Amino acid sequence: MAQKTAARPASDDDDAPPAPPKPQVNLEDLSGVGETTADKLREAGFTDLMELAVASPGDVAEAAEIGTTLALKIINEARRAADVGSFELGTTLLERRKKLGRISTNAKSLDELLGGGIETQAITEFAGEFGTGKTQIAHQVAVNIQLPADQGGLGAETVYIDTESTFRPERIVDMAKAAGIPPEDALSHIHVARAFNSNHQMLLVTKAQELARERPIRLLIVDSLTAHFRSEYPGRGELAPRQQLLNKHLHELLKFADTYNAAIVVTNQVSARPDILFGDPTRPIGGNIVAHAATYRVYLRKSKPPKRIARLIDSPNLPEGEAVFALTTDGIRE
Ligand code: GTP
Ligand code: MG
Repeated sequence: MAQKTAARPASDDDDAPPAPPKPQVNLEDLSGVGETTADKLREAGFTDLMELAVASPGDVAEAAEIGTTLALKIINEARRAADVGSFELGTTLLERRKKLGRISTNAKSLDELLGGGIETQAITEFAGEFGTGKTQIAHQVAVNIQLPADQGGLGAETVYIDTESTFRPERIVDMAKAAGIPPEDALSHIHVARAFNSNHQMLLVTKAQELARERPIRLLIVDSLTAHFRSEYPGRGELAPRQQLLNKHLHELLKFADTYNAAIVVTNQVSARPDILFGDPTRPIGGNIVAHAATYRVYLRKSKPPKRIARLIDSPNLPEGEAVFALTTDGIRE
């Protein structure tokens, strides 16, 4: 049996996505932006023109502690400098779609359910109760993305935002060995950050953007997307601010997916809601907001061990269906 080749530390290699060009214009070069304002903007995560160009005046005003009129002027200038067009031609969109990458989950049926694997330029959500395999899938794709394209990977690296301290390098070692990747290589292509709270979690997406300018990051994992938000905003009355922040977070993730042609994988724990007497007693946290932003939503449930069942829910372009896979020491298996 042919040994699989591990990803090379892709820098100038053919599989690797070209690093997006560094901005030619500094924030300070925009009229109306002094050094202090530029620093404040950068601190708030507006590190380049593109981020500024697509920001809302309110956000920029707040970040730089300036008036909205000035904020709008700065945004407009950033748009001109970054050459942001409002419309894209169908042909351009088709070209972009052609660059879509897919990452195998290792289980054929699950890949097929997702239309051929986890897609780049999209958010894929895995929702389910504890122990359904969300974290195991996250580990598996962080390994698989390192494989070359003909083996289900993209020859690229991962940013892993760990909010529950459940990232286990030992699991990566097991899965890498089974995939024929030297474990040390596998570990050195996964950039893990522990998020201490929801604010920090959002900040880490900005940090991931900085990293993606230097490294071929094509996968960003957030395990779990919702845990901090849920524990920090537990009450009914806090639903609105929680959803608002979650919405912002998801849009930053989508922007990352677009900018770097990257796949976004998020997990979402589902809690039993005994107050609901009919229908599905379990509902992914984050409700409509997550449903709206996630391109693919996969609902996981337990079956006869070690089997798990995945169901694709409300996908825009794929038929609903189910796939069965197994959780093993070697990772996800058919
Ligand atoms: P929460 O984060 O608690 O919501 O759960 P989760 O959906 O992330 O579950 P997770 O991915 O952590 O799955 C845990 C399950 O994976 C365990 O119950 C085992 O069935 C399986 N598992 C984890 N590690 C191993 C391992 O080393 N060997 C084997 N055979 N199975 C494992
Ligand atoms: Mg987990």
